Amino acid sequence: MVLGVNVDHVATVREARKGIEPDPVMAATLAVLGGADGITVHLREDRRHIHDRDLKLLREFVPVELNLEMAATKEMVGIALKTRPDMVTLVPEKREELTTEGGLDVKRQKLNLRKAVKAIHNAGIPVSLFINPAIDDIDLSKEIDADMVEIHTGLYANAKGERQKREFIRVEKSVREALNLGLSANAGHGLNYINVKKIAEIDGIRGLYIGHSIISRAVLVGMERAVREMKEMIKES
Ligand code: PXP
Repeated sequence: MVLGVNVDHVATVREARKGIEPDPVMAATLAVLGGADGITVHLREDRRHIHDRDLKLLREFVPVELNLEMAATKEMVGIALKTRPDMVTLVPEKREELTTEGGLDVKRQKLNLRKAVKAIHNAGIPVSLFINPAIDDIDLSKEIDADMVEIHTGLYANAKGERQKREFIRVEKSVREALNLGLSANAGHGLNYINVKKIAEIDGIRGLYIGHSIISRAVLVGMERAVREMKEMIKES
């Protein structure tokens, strides 16, 4: 099972001061030491967190699967072809959203997505589509010639009780449909230390792509050490 760690949130903290720390490239290196099988970054049109420089350095430093999340635009396809990540995940992108809020509108975007997939394939890079847990979208992903899908788990992650059970079944059925069609099936969004287990147990699932919960936990588990180190420096001066 692949664990792809999304380090966008480290860059978001850096951008709060528009400075140089914390550096998502350093965070990626530490994530790899911790056992990450992959590193994911979303290069957004407005560069609100990850910058082109980050992607360039990550390509040099990341020894595991580098997954570039991006919109299916001409600019981004050009960047993917130049940077050559190990895989590309095509995602919808709205300027005003806080995070990717839903899967791709595969039906409406079919021609554009197919064009982007073809161009990326011509460079020998596999493509995943970030889609809602809906059978039609899986079938369309196959028609578009994607290699993989990443099933959006946001509704499952945010639901409780019976509603969560129903959302889980949608994710599970989507994974099964993807596998039946010969697509690799990943999942991601909103997964945390409480809700991940059920998704990880789905038969045949290839990988999980997780960001916010891991970065949030890193802040908390690192707090005590960070304060202790500062205290010692002050004491020694
Ligand atoms: N997968 C995709 C396609 C995403 O856009 C995101 C959010 O950046 C994630 C996974 C990770 O989601 P989260 O940060 O909620 O773990």
